Formats: sequence, C-alpha cells, structure tokens
Amino acid sequence: MLTVAVLISGTGSNLRALLEAARRPDFPARIVVVGADRDAEGLAHAAELGIPSFTVPFRSFADRDAWGAELGRRLDEWEPDLVVLSGLMRLLPSSLVARYAPRIINTHPAYLPEFPGAHGVRDALAAGVSQTGASVIVVDDGVDTGPILAQERIPVEPGDTEETLHERIKPVERRLLIDVVRRIATGDLALTP
Ligand code: GAR
Repeated sequence: MLTVAVLISGTGSNLRALLEAARRPDFPARIVVVGADRDAEGLAHAAELGIPSFTVPFRSFADRDAWGAELGRRLDEWEPDLVVLSGLMRLLPSSLVARYAPRIINTHPAYLPEFPGAHGVRDALAAGVSQTGASVIVVDDGVDTGPILAQERIPVEPGDTEETLHERIKPVERRLLIDVVRRIATGDLALTP
C-alpha cells in the first residue's frame, strides 16, 4: 500500500476528493497525513475524515530554508512513499525537493508548460486563450517545470471569470490526480526525476 502525505494552503477541495478516493477499499494508496503552511481551511477535511494533520506556518520561520527544514522533519515522521502538493502555494526549498524527488507531485490549474506559477488561471484568462487545462507534474527545482504525468485541455468559455474557469478546472485536476496516485501505487506509472 502506497503511503501518501498531502500538503495544502487553501480550501483543499482536491484534497477532499483524494481523501475520499483513498478511503475506498480497492484504492491502492492511503493518505497518512495532511500538512499545511498556514491555518488552511482544507485541514478541516482531514479532521472530519480522521486523518492526522500538522501545520508548519511559513511566517514563523526566518526564511524558506528554515521553514523547509521543519516541514521536512514533520513529513519524515510519517515516512510517506509519495508527497502530493495539492494547492500548496509555496515553493519548496531545493533541499526538501532533493530529499523526496522524484516522489513529490503537484497539481496545477493550467496546461503546463503554459501559465506556470501562482496564478495559472488568471494568467490564462489575461492571455485571451481559447483553451487552458489541468496538469499533474513531478516537482523539481523550477516553478512548475518538472516532468508532466498527466494533463487535459479545458475550454475557456465566453464570460468566464477566474472563479468560474477555476471551478471547471478543479474537477479535471481531481480526476487526473486520483488517477496518477493510483497508477503510481500500482506501478503502472514510474516516477523519474
Ligand atoms: C488547485 O487548482 C491547484 O491546482 C492550485 O490551487 C488550487 C487548490 O484548490 N495550485 C496552484 O495553483 C499551484 N501553483 P483546492 O485548495 O480547493 O484544492
């Protein structure tokens, strides 16, 4: 059984979907812990479903390296086979990426390498493209530059706002993420740095 740690910053809707998928007896992975870089709303999903959680507040540390060292210590306690960034809105320090690579994956609300970074949905709308997408990638030292594990196109509709477009992207992200975690767990998908 693949053990998974999930890191979040926000509402955790994708986390919720992954937690529910992982509760099914036939799902080949288990979420062992959920971590956050702040008092994230999404931690409530872990509490509700009886999954342990921790918070390592970014603002409590002098710099990214100090924060990342503590985050790494908290993750290590659970010895996860896989770390999933599900809306973690912080760059991990390279020391932490190196420790878990290539067993760290990230979901992103755009068709990478298009529109990387913290505002993938907003940037796609601002660019006036007719389609954007959702991606699941391996985390490397860059900003959303790692190997792509799964992705799918999603049309931009006339009148879309950042919110309406993001709400259409998220269900696709969830499906891709759950499928990628399943395929990693069964060995159908090999992670390479
Ligand atoms: C998701 O769309 C995720 O891809 C995005 O944050 C959202 C989190 O939603 N992450 C990034 O943009 C990372 N660059 P959620 O908290 O409701 O799951």
